[in-house]
Amino acid sequence: MTTIFEPLTLKTNTTIKNRFVKAALSETLGNKNYQPTEQLISLYQAWANGGTGLLITGNVMVDPNARGEFGNIVIDRNQNFELLKKWAQAGTTNDTKIFMQLNHPGKQSPKTITKQPVAPSAVPMTGSNSFAFNSPRALTHTEIQQIIAKFVDAAVIAQKTGFSGVEIHAAHGYLLNQFLSPHDNQRTDEYGGSLENRMRIVTEIYQGIREKVGNDFPIALKINSSDFRPDGFSEEDSLKVIQKMDQMGIDLIEISGGNYENPKMQGIGKGAFFIDYAKKVKQTIKTPIIVTGGFNTANGMESAIKNDETDFVGLARPLVMVPDLPKQLKWGNFTSVKLNHLTTGSKKLDKKVGSLIGLSFYQQQMLRIAEDKKVQPTTNAWGALLFSLKHQGISALMPQRSKE
Ligand SMILES: Cc1cc2nc3c(=O)[nH]c(=O)nc-3n(C[C@H](O)[C@H](O)[C@H](O)COP(=O)(O)O)c2cc1C
Repeated sequence: MTTIFEPLTLKTNTTIKNRFVKAALSETLGNKNYQPTEQLISLYQAWANGGTGLLITGNVMVDPNARGEFGNIVIDRNQNFELLKKWAQAGTTNDTKIFMQLNHPGKQSPKTITKQPVAPSAVPMTGSNSFAFNSPRALTHTEIQQIIAKFVDAAVIAQKTGFSGVEIHAAHGYLLNQFLSPHDNQRTDEYGGSLENRMRIVTEIYQGIREKVGNDFPIALKINSSDFRPDGFSEEDSLKVIQKMDQMGIDLIEISGGNYENPKMQGIGKGAFFIDYAKKVKQTIKTPIIVTGGFNTANGMESAIKNDETDFVGLARPLVMVPDLPKQLKWGNFTSVKLNHLTTGSKKLDKKVGSLIGLSFYQQQMLRIAEDKKVQPTTNAWGALLFSLKHQGISALMPQRSKE
């Protein structure tokens, strides 16, 4: 029987010292040149000291012209690499591994950031936050090739600067998820139509990266179990993409689900959301998987590993509230973490800014960890709202992600 503190060695000979993974959290701690700040580096030092085996960074953008939100880190060939090296160094202390998550937002880039977003097809965002996004234009065939090259360049930079691996972000409604989804992708060339075509951009990014980084550098994929919309990326499609990536030699598959129009990945207190799907996946592939979303008790985490329901437990918000959760669990000091619903006190206002609060509270707490302060659990949303206003100005009140 496997325990949560047992190491696991990936195909590419990288050993993760235990089964805890910090899932990606957009830290919004980039400076105005989209480079890591000292605070971002301290935050990863704190997580590395806290005993997690693998840290996956918040989404790093591969194209300076396509950013998802304020404070993103952007990989650009002209960048000064020293700060990236320091970030990787902090994330690899204490025998920890750090993977850089690579992303392109596609049309999920708010109008406060991108005047003319791009997408597989000119299909506008839907849902109550759609007013915050300009309608996208369809990418040309040449632009798709350029985006693939940007993912590959970014992975090469991650390798050069000392990151232990990369994760391709194909979940949560961003560009690669848009390609996978028949709702968003209505192309008639070889990047649209059949599932094989819709997944082509993902397989080409994977192959492109693998050719450049060699066989000793792990590549992970974050993918939705489903988009949870009738005309979106289905569970059946997701399973086929995972099987294909398994055959192609991917090192790790992280399972999440939903998007910001239908945020199934961020419930509170419902247990691990995607564990049933993960069980199906595990029966059909050899690649280790990470299940992320909803773990909040020691029991839940330990039994998911013991029962072989997943190879790794992905934790995002719990590792903000308890940055040294693995260490505490080891010493018997952790039983569960409570994630609060935050409220402004007005139901009407909560409805308008609820998705912003859910992100900004955790961003506020990550900055506190970076500054060596204690996290502050609360149910009062005003501190998080003021934090966003202070750091981003009035544009903070414009949604940066979609919502139904
Ligand atoms: C503030 C915040 C930022 C996030 N940023 C990212 C991101 O950059 N990339 C990503 O794949 N998921 C991101 N997520 C989603 C988490 O990785 C995770 O899938 C989700 O929070 C569910 O896991 P949990 O229940 O352990 O928090 C973010 C979540 C939060 C709360």
